[in-house]
Amino acid sequence: MDVNDRFLRKITVGQGPEEKGMVRETGFDISVASEIMAVLALTTSLADMRERLGKMVIGNSKAGDPVTADDLGVGGALTVLMKDAINPTLMQTLEGTPVLLHAGPFANIAHGNSSIVADKIALKLVGPGGFVVTEAGFGSDIGTEKFMNIKCRYSGLTPQCAVIVATIRALKMHGGGPEVVAGKPLDRAYTTENVSLVEAGCVNLARHISNTKAYGVNVVVAVNMFATDSEAELNAVRNAALTAGAYDAVVCTHHAHGGKGAVELGIAVQKACGNVTQPLKFLYSLDISIKEKIEAIARSYGASGVEYSEQAEKQIEMYSRQGFSGLPICMAKTQYSFSHQASEKGAPTGFVLPIRDVKASIGAGFIYPLVGAMSTMPGLPTRPCFYDIDLDTATSKVIGLS
Ligand SMILES: *[C@@H]1O[C@H](CO)[C@@H](O)[C@H](O)[C@H]1NC(C)=O
Ligand SMILES: *[C@@H]1O[C@H](CO)[C@@H](O)[C@H](O)[C@H]1NC(C)=O
Ligand SMILES: *[C@@H]1O[C@H](CO)[C@@H](O)[C@H](O)[C@H]1NC(C)=O
Repeated sequence: MDVNDRFLRKITVGQGPEEKGMVRETGFDISVASEIMAVLALTTSLADMRERLGKMVIGNSKAGDPVTADDLGVGGALTVLMKDAINPTLMQTLEGTPVLLHAGPFANIAHGNSSIVADKIALKLVGPGGFVVTEAGFGSDIGTEKFMNIKCRYSGLTPQCAVIVATIRALKMHGGGPEVVAGKPLDRAYTTENVSLVEAGCVNLARHISNTKAYGVNVVVAVNMFATDSEAELNAVRNAALTAGAYDAVVCTHHAHGGKGAVELGIAVQKACGNVTQPLKFLYSLDISIKEKIEAIARSYGASGVEYSEQAEKQIEMYSRQGFSGLPICMAKTQYSFSHQASEKGAPTGFVLPIRDVKASIGAGFIYPLVGAMSTMPGLPTRPCFYDIDLDTATSKVIGLS
């Protein structure tokens, strides 16, 4: 079920009198955080999907051993439900470029983005001289880290280059600009020239560049230009990006001008892809302990240490005992900061990263620590989008969904 409702974070089931007292507390995750979504995005074939769905651990036996979907006998039926979902949807851009849409594990609470199946089909379609662009949601701490350490591990594919999209507005916010509140008009600071504010925010971009380069991948920065950006501000970002080690940094106007506005970016990416000088380097090896992996990722955020709750300690101990410590890690962390606190802008350092709980998606193939207050069932916004959605009953057209 595609749900997003905080009341479902914790629920009680089995209250019918026929259930004879088998009452149990459980809860939902938002669909984009679900293990089935992660399996769909990480699988490589029908046979592999069948295996991963069957391997999903749904709980422990009284003896403390993992119980899987196949133990319950539901792995086959689940695969039947998912057999059409494994086929990506072919769509096109306004300019007729093919686009494969497939899966949507959010990058903050899951491993982030497009499926391996879609990437592989795309690579086959473009052939050896072609280019495939795939998305890794949010920044280098979230999307990129998981793309490299989880997705590339399972697909065996390696990126030739990474594109980091930056905007003057976001960098101003990271430089200490006024708080941005959804639904409120944007502060003037974001629409009038302030080169020093942009420059102050470039520490954030620089961290994203160096984190991405650490994988041995060339970085091209695409500055997504807004009409209010000034020449001096755009130059400041270009210079900061090159100083931080970007292979190239180009201003793009595709939002205003379509493909024509991204030609320079395309050329820069083509050059960067032709200049791969080293193999992909993972941030951690799989054979170290769960804690050592978490700590390696935390260091890449700028943390000086990691603090585990009692519950997290217990879970890590259990997963290690059950033989799951060789899996990669998928941190559920806010996307608004390198740290666990959304308000910490720029490039924070020296903080201690709190791990509240640790869960596992054994079928999908990762351990996922919950960092700080991150929830796998977010609440709706103050003004839920459903207010704007309706059906025109005369034409059966949907109104308000775009
Ligand atoms: C990738 O992640 C971002 C951030 O969670 C999300 O907005 C986007 O829809 C995801 N893309 C795909 C293809 O799942
Ligand atoms: C730029 O932003 C900083 C920080 O908000 C502010 O102190 C300064 O006055 C601004 N400068 C201009 C020219 O607006
Ligand atoms: C590759 O890029 C580096 C700079 O990052 C440059 O010095 C070198 O000449 C490039 N090589 C090729 C073959 O383009």
